[in-house]
Amino acid sequence: MSKLFSPIRLAGQDFPNRIVVAPMCQYSADDGSANEWHLQNLMNLGMSGAGLVMLEATAVERPGRITHGCLGLYSDNNIAALDRVLKAARRVSPAGTKWGIQIAHSGRKGSQQRPWEGGAAIQPGEDPWQTFGPSALPFGDWHTPREASLDDMARIRDAFVETAKRSVDLGLEVIELHCAHGYLLHEFLSPLSNQRTDKYGGSPENRMRFPLEVARAVREAVPGELVFGARITGTDWHEEGIDLEEAATFASALKAVGLDYVCVSSGGLVPGLKIPVEAGYQLSYAAGIKERTGIATRAVGMIADPHQAEEIIASGQADMVALARGLIDNPRWPWHAAEALGAEMTVPPQYLRGHAPNWPGAKLARPGS
Ligand SMILES: Cc1cc2nc3c(=O)[nH]c(=O)nc-3n(C[C@H](O)[C@H](O)[C@H](O)COP(=O)(O)O)c2cc1C
Repeated sequence: MSKLFSPIRLAGQDFPNRIVVAPMCQYSADDGSANEWHLQNLMNLGMSGAGLVMLEATAVERPGRITHGCLGLYSDNNIAALDRVLKAARRVSPAGTKWGIQIAHSGRKGSQQRPWEGGAAIQPGEDPWQTFGPSALPFGDWHTPREASLDDMARIRDAFVETAKRSVDLGLEVIELHCAHGYLLHEFLSPLSNQRTDKYGGSPENRMRFPLEVARAVREAVPGELVFGARITGTDWHEEGIDLEEAATFASALKAVGLDYVCVSSGGLVPGLKIPVEAGYQLSYAAGIKERTGIATRAVGMIADPHQAEEIIASGQADMVALARGLIDNPRWPWHAAEALGAEMTVPPQYLRGHAPNWPGAKLARPGS
C-alpha cells in the first residue's frame, strides 16, 4: 500500500493523498485578478489528481504584490475573477481534491519586474510603488522599503484577515500564510532583515511577534474546520540568519496559535547565497521541525521521483510532499507516480486512452463525481 497515496486528515478536511501542487506565481494577473491564463493553469493542475492544489502567492493588499502581474484578493474584481476560475477548475478535478490559497505580502521584495522582464526593481515610468519592510533595508539593489509603522502593520494584519475571510467565502479549504522566501512576514522573523528596536525586533520572541499576531488574527477569523497552515523557512542559509532551531521555535509557536501544518522551504531572504540545491535539499529541515514540534509538515524542494516521495512519507520525515517545477513540467505526475507505486488513481476517462491500456492502477471515474 502506497503511503504517498494514503489519505490524510487535517483540521476538518480529508485529503485523498499526500501530493500537493506547490504555490506558483504566474505573474499574469490583471491588477490582482485571475484571467484565462489562470483558468487553464488551474484546470490543468486540478486534473492532476494531487490531493491539494495550492494557488500562487496571493497579495492581501495592492502594495503587497511582488509584480504588476501578481494575483491578489484585495478587490471585488479579484474575488469575482477567482470565483469563476475556481468553479471551473473544481468541475474537472477528481472528487476529493482540495484547494488552498497562499496569502502573502511581498514586503521589501515588492514593486519588482516580472522575471521575464528582468526581475529588477520596477523603474520610474513602470508604475513603481512604495514598499514596506520591518526596517528600511533593501534586498540587494531593489527598492529601499519604508520601515513599517505600527499603523502600517495594523493595516496589513487586517488585510490578511480580510483576505482569509474572502478565501473562506470562495470555498477554499486551506489557507497558508506565506512566511518564507524573504517576503514581509519572513522579513520580520529574520535578524538579517529586521533591525527594529521596538517590541517587533531584537530577540527571536520579538521578531516572531508580528507574524504570530497575523496568524492569531486569521485563525480567529476563519472556521475551525478550515485547514490553516504556513510556509516557513527552515534556514536562511546564512550564519546570522534563521537556523533549524529558530525555525522549530516558530513552528511550535504557530502550532500553539492553532495552525495545522507547516510547509518547510528555505532561502530567498538575502541575495547571493550559496545554497546546496540537490534532490530533497530542504527535507532535513521539514523532518527536523516535525521531530521537534510534532506539527504536520510538508516537504518541498527538488522532489521529483515518485519513489523518493513515497520514502519521505513512509519514513515519517514529512506528512505531505509538494512539487512545483515537476508539476509544471508534467501535470500528470501523480498519475505516473500512482503507476510507479502500484496505487489506485482516479483519472478522467477522456484521457485514459493516452495511457498504457493495461495500466493496473487506472480506475475509471468521472471527474468531480
Ligand atoms: C514558477 C514558480 C513560481 C513560484 N511561486 C511561488 C509562490 O507563489 N509561493 C511560494 O511559496 N513559492 C513559490 N515558488 C517556489 C515553489 O513553491 C517551490 O517551493 C520551489 O520551486 C521548490 O520546489 P520544486 O523543486 O518542486 O520546484 C515558485 C516556484 C516556481 C518554479
